[in-house]
Amino acid sequence: MRSLLAVALIILSAAARAGESSPVDLHQLEAASRVYQTQCASCHGGRGEGAPNWERPDRQGEMPAPPHDREGHTWKHADGMLYRIVRNGWRDPFNKTQRLTMPAFGPALSPKEIRAVIDYLKTLWTPEQRRFQEEESRHAPFPPEAR
Ligand code: HEC
Repeated sequence: MRSLLAVALIILSAAARAGESSPVDLHQLEAASRVYQTQCASCHGGRGEGAPNWERPDRQGEMPAPPHDREGHTWKHADGMLYRIVRNGWRDPFNKTQRLTMPAFGPALSPKEIRAVIDYLKTLWTPEQRRFQEEESRHAPFPPEAR
C-alpha cells in the first residue's frame, strides 16, 4: 500500500511539473488513500480494479462495482457528478433491485473528505484522462462546500 501511494504521489508531482493543474494537498491525498482502502476498496478493489465481471449484471440483476483506474469510466465524469454519486449514492437505472448499490457516503464523510477521495481516484488515471476530466469539470465543478 505504501509503495502504491508513493508511486501515485510521484505521478501527481510529475503531472504538476508538466503544467497540469494539481490542486491536491499531499497530506489530504494520503488521508484519502486510507479512506479509499477502508471505505471503498471492498467493492471497487484495492487498486481500483473494480469487481470481477463488473461489465455484466450479477445474479441479483445488479451492476457490480466498476473500476476507478484507467480501465474504467470514472474519469469521464466531471467533479460535480462524481461528488453527487459519492455523497448521495447511485444505482444503475436498469438494475432489477431498487437499492442503492453504490452507498451514500454523505453521512459518513465530510464534503472535503469526499472531494479528497475523488482526487485520490485521479491518481489512478492516465495524464490524458486527467486532462479530459479536468476540462469536463470546468462546467461542473465540486460544490462550494467541498472547495
Ligand atoms: C458496497 C459496495 C460499494 C462501496 C463500499 C463503494 N462503492 Fe462506489 N459503486 C458501487 C457500485 C455497485 C457502483 C455502480 C453503480 C451503478 O450501477 O452505476 C459504484 C459506483 C461508483 C462511482 C461511479 C463510477 C462510474 O464509473 O460511473 C463512483 C465515483 C464511486 N462508486 C465511488 C466510490 C467511492 C469513492 C467509495 C468509497 C468512499 C465507494 N464508491 C464505495 C459500489 C460500492
